[in-house]
Amino acid sequence: MAHRWKNDLTHDDVTPYNTYLNRRQIMAGMAGVGLAAMAGTRASAMTLEPNSYEDITSYNNFYEFGTGKGDPAKHAHRLTTDGWSVEIDGLVDNPGSYAFEDIMKNMSVEERIYRFRCVEAWSMVIPWNGFELKDLLDMAGVQSSAKYVAFETLYRPDEMVGQKFRSLDWPYVEGLRLDEAMNPLTIMATGIYGKPIPNQNGAPLRLVVPWKYGFKSIKSIVKITLTDKQPPTSWNKANAREYGFYSNVNPTVDHPRWSQATERPIGGGLFAKRKETLMFNGYENEVAGLYEGMDLARNF
Ligand code: MTE
Repeated sequence: MAHRWKNDLTHDDVTPYNTYLNRRQIMAGMAGVGLAAMAGTRASAMTLEPNSYEDITSYNNFYEFGTGKGDPAKHAHRLTTDGWSVEIDGLVDNPGSYAFEDIMKNMSVEERIYRFRCVEAWSMVIPWNGFELKDLLDMAGVQSSAKYVAFETLYRPDEMVGQKFRSLDWPYVEGLRLDEAMNPLTIMATGIYGKPIPNQNGAPLRLVVPWKYGFKSIKSIVKITLTDKQPPTSWNKANAREYGFYSNVNPTVDHPRWSQATERPIGGGLFAKRKETLMFNGYENEVAGLYEGMDLARNF
């Protein structure tokens, strides 16, 4: 299952996944140590300490359930996810409605421990379970004229109480350029810490693009459209001056109302030290090439 394990490290750095798993089990067995991710040898650059399950599932942004960080955990239990399917349409050879169970039968799910950086300048480290978006797109058969991928979240105001308010223009929509979508770092997450993804984190499947601000990682996806035009995105529609299409994590390009140079790690307590934000959230080796020759201050 772990044949394509990738962390935020270059290939030379990465400890083979089995060694990593063994270490993880050893660490987990040591009282109080918990799930430390020991991915390599150069300790400072290598070690990603995942946040607790509690942090990850109680401090959320999911405006369909309210605008407060605690609202999703409070209200998302009302969302029913059985019988879930994803409509894949547009410039694909095999358009149609794909049942979540059928998708899972065909995808190889693995663990990815990723940094997660919200545009609001807080951050976490999250052990996702998921599969590469590319594998799903390959199943749908992307046509050569496709240039972008558009995503859409469920619209069901009876269950998603926040959709009764116009905090955003519903349904939530997002998009990626096709090469970003096909990048091996881009995953569809279906779990956290080995359990099915909780409703407040985007059940049953959500996008995770670890080098972009968190709002690109759209939750509870019901529709994926391959298109030749740059698709609209929710936060860009709400405020184009503040939220661009690319939204790559970039400590040198400030948000109009705050700096993006540092971040506040969630879970470190009230007095936790802020950390310096890394270019592309630390995934520069893997993705900088996607943006060669582009002005990233203009294409923010
Ligand atoms: N997806 C939908 N459908 N609705 C949302 O409000 N919020 C985004 C993103 N995906 C959001 C969404 C934002 S702003 C962030 S930071 C992340 O989800 C938060 O993901 P998390 O709650 O799992 O940490």
